[in-house]
Amino acid sequence: MSNVVKIKGGVPLIGDVTINGSKNAISAILPAACLAKPGSHSVIKNVPDISDIETHCAILKEIGITASFDREHHTLTLSGSVEQVSLSETNAPKIRASNLYLGALLAIKGEVHMPFCGGDQIGDRPLDIHFSIFHKFKINTEIKDGHINCLATEFPLKAATVYLRYPSVGATENALLIASLAEGTSYIYNAACEPEITDLAITLNNMGAQIHGAGTPIIRVTGVSELGSISHEVIPDRLEYCTFLMAFACTHGKGRILGGIPEHSISVLQTLIDSGVSIHFEDGITYVDATCDTYNPINISALPYPGLPTDVQPLLAVFATLCKGTSVIQDSVFKNRFGYAKEFSKMGISSLHLYDHLCINGPQQFKAAHVKGTDIRAASSLVLAALCATSETTLTGYSHVARGYENFVRKLHSLGAHIDLY
Ligand code: EPU
Repeated sequence: MSNVVKIKGGVPLIGDVTINGSKNAISAILPAACLAKPGSHSVIKNVPDISDIETHCAILKEIGITASFDREHHTLTLSGSVEQVSLSETNAPKIRASNLYLGALLAIKGEVHMPFCGGDQIGDRPLDIHFSIFHKFKINTEIKDGHINCLATEFPLKAATVYLRYPSVGATENALLIASLAEGTSYIYNAACEPEITDLAITLNNMGAQIHGAGTPIIRVTGVSELGSISHEVIPDRLEYCTFLMAFACTHGKGRILGGIPEHSISVLQTLIDSGVSIHFEDGITYVDATCDTYNPINISALPYPGLPTDVQPLLAVFATLCKGTSVIQDSVFKNRFGYAKEFSKMGISSLHLYDHLCINGPQQFKAAHVKGTDIRAASSLVLAALCATSETTLTGYSHVARGYENFVRKLHSLGAHIDLY
């Protein structure tokens, strides 16, 4: 897989871009496919062509489910049913979302054995909230030699009331998967409210589940004895949508974003509008005009939804370098998600990192350099940084971007960026 991009910046991006399906939504929907009864045939539309999908399909194959991806039509069809409750070292450690196969296999079989999930290196990512949910459903968890072994003390599982000490996205998804097939009515308190949770609940309800309140902090799930096939169209990727908003803003460009859902990104839109970017909406299209000369500084805190997404704060840090005055960026979701600041400094940007805050005094000009992306959003923020620099930047670690953005380079090209993949 190509891992290096060269970018010559200084060009305002201009044109139209279309948003693909959400990586984080499909990452929860594919584990849900394990819950479909034998003989099911699932069809999922608007699936993004990203490398994380290949990893999910490989995991599903290990379990006994065959996935076939029609890339041209962004459609994934799934057949077969769960025959295995163990995942190998080959695929699960590649992505964080493999932890959702814990909930999926527990729901359908009451047992699962797998290596620890992987994913982006963006600080501590424990699974204690997931394990406390399993405990409430009377599932024992044992960690041994880097493996997670879970076994239900009684199966079929019985409903439970769970309170999450933090509204974790993945833990809420695991709770939904388990509760959907557990006998009786379960309650999930302090649930995550992200649009991807709602999309998972819609998918499960279409399969026959009875989930009420998804998208709010209290979810009620009445378990059913079996679930049918998936027939679903994945929501657009709000993080890709925000990335292109930021790409127009950071290059003082102008364009239209098609296929996104602006309501999913109010926090980011409001931040940009308050700062001076002109944005309006018509017939589902987002019009961005960032041709103004200066921006007001930003003061933001990444929070659980509907707060500003942690995944967008690295991109807003690029934007902060263009703002006149001191911008403050805090991340209370992943408190250490500031690794990109070291790479920014190689590009001539000075910033002050204090615990979970980053302060940037602007305006400052990015200079071309050799930089390395270490996770998907840090790498995409470095692409934006390079688009702001005037000569050629070389970015390694581009494979992180390919995990979650379909045709990122091609889309930027079509907006006039000088970017090449090696
Ligand atoms: N946390 C715990 N214990 C747990 C679970 C989470 O302490 O058992 C903490 C985490 O360490 C973190 C916070 O809770 O500080 C939030 O983590 P959460 O569980 O909500 O995140 P996640 O489910 O692992 C998903 C997305 C991330 C996104 C976060 C937050 C997927 C596959 N990943 O991760 O997406 O940043 O929610 O919104 O859905 C990305 O797309 O770049 C990405 C990393």
